[in-house]
Amino acid sequence: MKRLIAGTSIISALSFAVLAASQAHAQDTPTETSATGSEIIGEIGGSAQCKPRPLRDYAEKMVGGDVTTAELWPGIVALGAQTETGSHAYYNCGGVLLNARTVLTAAHCLNGSEQDPNTRAWSAVSNDGAKWPMIVISNSDDLANDDPEVAARVIDGEVISEPDGRAYRVDPDARQFNDIALLKLDRDLPGPYARLSGSLDADPAIEGHLLWAAGFGKTEEHGKAFSWFSSRRGEFRTSAPAQVLSDAILQFKPRNQCAQSIDPSISDTMHICAGWDEGGHDSCQGDSGGPLTVLDGDGCPVVVGLTSFGIGCGQPGKYGVYTRVSQYRDWIEARVSDAKFVTAAPPAAGQEAFKRMVDAVLDAGAGSQNQLSFQMTQNDRPVDGDLKAGTSYELQVRSAFEGNLMVVDQNESGFYDLVYPYFEYDDAAIGPDKSVAIPLYAQINQAGALRESGDLTFVVLPKSVNIREVFLAPAKTGTKSLRPKPADSGQQLSDEFKRISTLLDLETSNGDDQIASSAFGYTIVR
Ligand code: ARG
Repeated sequence: MKRLIAGTSIISALSFAVLAASQAHAQDTPTETSATGSEIIGEIGGSAQCKPRPLRDYAEKMVGGDVTTAELWPGIVALGAQTETGSHAYYNCGGVLLNARTVLTAAHCLNGSEQDPNTRAWSAVSNDGAKWPMIVISNSDDLANDDPEVAARVIDGEVISEPDGRAYRVDPDARQFNDIALLKLDRDLPGPYARLSGSLDADPAIEGHLLWAAGFGKTEEHGKAFSWFSSRRGEFRTSAPAQVLSDAILQFKPRNQCAQSIDPSISDTMHICAGWDEGGHDSCQGDSGGPLTVLDGDGCPVVVGLTSFGIGCGQPGKYGVYTRVSQYRDWIEARVSDAKFVTAAPPAAGQEAFKRMVDAVLDAGAGSQNQLSFQMTQNDRPVDGDLKAGTSYELQVRSAFEGNLMVVDQNESGFYDLVYPYFEYDDAAIGPDKSVAIPLYAQINQAGALRESGDLTFVVLPKSVNIREVFLAPAKTGTKSLRPKPADSGQQLSDEFKRISTLLDLETSNGDDQIASSAFGYTIVR
């Protein structure tokens, strides 16, 4: 489906980039919609099922972060040590579980610990020389659940050290190189397990690509490295910088910018940087070894980095530095044959966020379909059934209340494109006195395909939501692409999501905040 320039019948040169369709799902009558993130994830047919990240998470800023839930962080672990009897424990690092018995973490998390040459078990050595066995707890978001019966002991482990000279190094000024380690556990820990980026292709590459980091680290730069709280070990028997798991939204920062701001020695062969020019959102002490993730096309996390080092926490322009996991794939695979690697490129910056926003908006608008109506016409005559490839149509949309119209085309691959407003002159305003007519051109994008289906979704948003600003502003550079120009789009999307999610939380109770949605499933035939 293509947008036509109003009043013409030529195919728009400014076409949407539409991914090749793979399988058809015939659906040619108007349907009610209440597509949720999870349904769409199921529909896209991704192998990795996960819980969709809630909309508000795009708006929240560990330092400048927000508490989160373990289900959004498959395989998350806290790494620490406990007394021999299990009476007390502390956690000072993160990591991810790769299978029932293996944790991936940062090598520097083993500083101050030692491996028993006979048993091979790791222990942290405390100030008074006492040895505390190292432990992990997994898939938990609250260390009040810390339980000596559940924590797994680290019975073996390996810091990277390769014949090619890649050995873990820490500089006196705390820069880290090859900051990666694998730990073996004494018991099976249940999944889910984390998936890792297995190639540079699967890593973020464009500045501004949205990333998330999580951990039990400090939530303020000058926060306490340890605070004691109650757990299943007893009253004030567990300690960590933070009792509950937090995550932060970050932007990918390319090597050159990161090297300039943090350290010239930063390289793409071992590091990946993430943070904000304006600061405020960051990982911090205690988050080390924990995951930095992209979301894949299904909205499921893929670990691209392990928290390694930074300058302070959350300072403007001081990006966090993470170990680039994809570059250690061979080393990991040689030791963990069932580790799961992802090699497909993540969706373009903003695309995933856009999908989530649309899904959330649809959720909020579900049930109010009767407020919206639409009709596909050809030469002013109503069209029912299949659309003919190579034909121009006009879609008329009416709304019983005033707001801004947004129309999204979801193609067979689950890719979302904004259909309206799209051109500079597209006026999103709609209401009882103002219907909107959208010229469309039916075309089959996949070479050789005989038919193509998709869904056009209509949403009327409150007037205060400026769809154009969120989705079109970055395109002023000329591409008109929905994939926003990354530089400022992360912040922009983040700000707008915050506003929209606040509106959605109002439950659309008064007229001004009304939201409605409806969808039209189309099939184009040759
Ligand atoms: N080295 C720290 C740790 O051991 C992680 C610091 C990350 N700092 C940052 N500003 N992102 O937990």
